[in-house]
Amino acid sequence: MIGTIEKIIDDDIYLNLTIDPQKTTSLLNAYVIIQDVNNSFIGEINVIHKTTCQIKLLGEYKNNNFTFGYAKKPALSATVNLIDVQYISKIIGNESEPNNTLFLGMSPYFDNVKINADLNGLFSSHLAIFGNTGSGKSCSFASIMQNLMQHQNISDKMNIVIFDAYGEYHDAFEYLNESGTYAFKAYGTNEKIDNNIISIPPWLLNADDYALLLNVTSANQMPIIEKTLRNVDLFVRPEEEVSKYKNSIIANAISDILLSGRPAAQIRDQVTGILSKFYTQSLNLETIISQPGYNRTFRQCLLVDENGKMNAMELVSNFIKSYFTDEVSASTPDGSYKYTLENFRDALDFALIEEGIWKSEKIFDQANILMVRLNALIKSEYGKLFNVEDYIDKETYINNLFLTHNGKKAQIINFNISSFDDRMAKSVVKIFAKLFFNYAKEAEVKGATPFNLFLEEAHRYVQKDSDIDIIGYNIFERISKEGRKYGVLLGLISQRPCELSETCLSQCSNYLLFKITHPNDIAFVEKSIPGITADVIANIKTALPGHCMAFGSAFKLPLLVKIDMPNPRPSSESVNMSSVWFD
Ligand SMILES: Nc1ncnc2c1ncn2[C@@H]1O[C@H](COP(=O)(O)OP(=O)(O)OP(=O)(O)O)[C@@H](O)[C@H]1O
Ligand SMILES: [Mg+2]
Repeated sequence: MIGTIEKIIDDDIYLNLTIDPQKTTSLLNAYVIIQDVNNSFIGEINVIHKTTCQIKLLGEYKNNNFTFGYAKKPALSATVNLIDVQYISKIIGNESEPNNTLFLGMSPYFDNVKINADLNGLFSSHLAIFGNTGSGKSCSFASIMQNLMQHQNISDKMNIVIFDAYGEYHDAFEYLNESGTYAFKAYGTNEKIDNNIISIPPWLLNADDYALLLNVTSANQMPIIEKTLRNVDLFVRPEEEVSKYKNSIIANAISDILLSGRPAAQIRDQVTGILSKFYTQSLNLETIISQPGYNRTFRQCLLVDENGKMNAMELVSNFIKSYFTDEVSASTPDGSYKYTLENFRDALDFALIEEGIWKSEKIFDQANILMVRLNALIKSEYGKLFNVEDYIDKETYINNLFLTHNGKKAQIINFNISSFDDRMAKSVVKIFAKLFFNYAKEAEVKGATPFNLFLEEAHRYVQKDSDIDIIGYNIFERISKEGRKYGVLLGLISQRPCELSETCLSQCSNYLLFKITHPNDIAFVEKSIPGITADVIANIKTALPGHCMAFGSAFKLPLLVKIDMPNPRPSSESVNMSSVWFD
């Protein structure tokens, strides 16, 4: 016995010590077993004075098993004893069947006590890994994944995707390919050094994806994008199949201009402008418009006389009506045929004349900015991402993402997105996240193809941004709310939790909190993480590199864990100034 209970207030037990704490090893953070006539409880010493100490009641110990939380509290007459180290693993070790146990690290308080996580608990719900820069997030994440890959009989159903903001993880996982049992596939953007180049088939994108890529800022721009997508097939299918619909759109636009009441010279210029850009075999500037007696080309009919009149206005008006049709060509592309960003640009151009951008400056500005952005994207280095030679359907594309060049299934794939600017990185990560989420959601058997998406520097992508106003949802918030059911799980790794979407943060079930010192981050974490305690907060303020507070559904109780350095390490070292600065 180490003392007698003086009082119990809430979950704190106040003890008068019967041993001299100065003559024992440190009692701080030691676990105690508290036994009364009916029950046994486990507590942790968290305050110590010369003759007294305070114990935090953690849970019950029944049938050789520890459960966090308790229904009753110990009686004042209960005995309090230190727990023998051999029992500590039982309490905090979390050992169940090997396939459901993941070794996380060692306890910094108890020698040789391993701390495991419940594997299912950790990977079948969302996970957050937070900590200051240099606190050990990347090394620890690599270490945890390396421990995971030590398991045997991992099936081809494991799909771990890392969005690697700094290109760190290639070095930590490449070894998997040497061992031959499992495989790792690394994607990058540099054709000279990367074996696998990130590429995204434009035909697998939908209106929401284009809205992200073109940085749509107003909901009014969405109909233009939707219209553009409906027009894409006009530029892909053979002309004889689509000319009827193309002609109708051109004819409607020309008719609008003819009826606009603008000066004839302006009408002539606008109609000529449209027909110079968009024409078909059967409707163009050289199309013959017949009149009893003589034939003229469309271009000739647009002539304006010296009085500023277009004499053939009515003739042209009537002629153009013959091209009207109420039928629409096709629906939005469904990913079943190939098209390029250049086709999308033509379709956007066409959508702009359909919208009648000359009608108002506001429409022109909103629509034109999309064209400017699309052109910039096509011409930029990012345009190459969307240059995909051969048609591929969505399912094969996603399957191939996880196949190495020799056809082996890769359990972990890594997208090195370090060369992307913030906006592009965010768009690409969202596009992939949505692709995986929709794929998992459409699967015939729910959860048959799970995806675990780990986002380094998650605060760069998982933000409270304007997507909800534009496309009605934010993909990360959607995944954080619905993904668990379909097996799409987020792993958010971040040094700035306060910049993350609060919705996403609060949906995480497990947290590995490394050292966090910034008051804003502490306050945010305290406010947004359900069930976080003052003890956890106190621990993370002072944690050493590689030490974290682990808590959530995968752990029996909140625990401080020292995670081993991974081997091999990610390339995340700080610059060694003394070796750089001095010869
Ligand atoms: N488990 C560990 N044990 C001991 N030292 C560690 C451990 N993990 C990390 N460190 C030390 O901390 C350094 C920084 O680690 P790491 O790159 O993982 O930090 P980080 O939290 O990912 O930082 P950033 O937010 O800047 O990416 C490492 O180079 C290593 O020296
Ligand atoms: Mg890091």
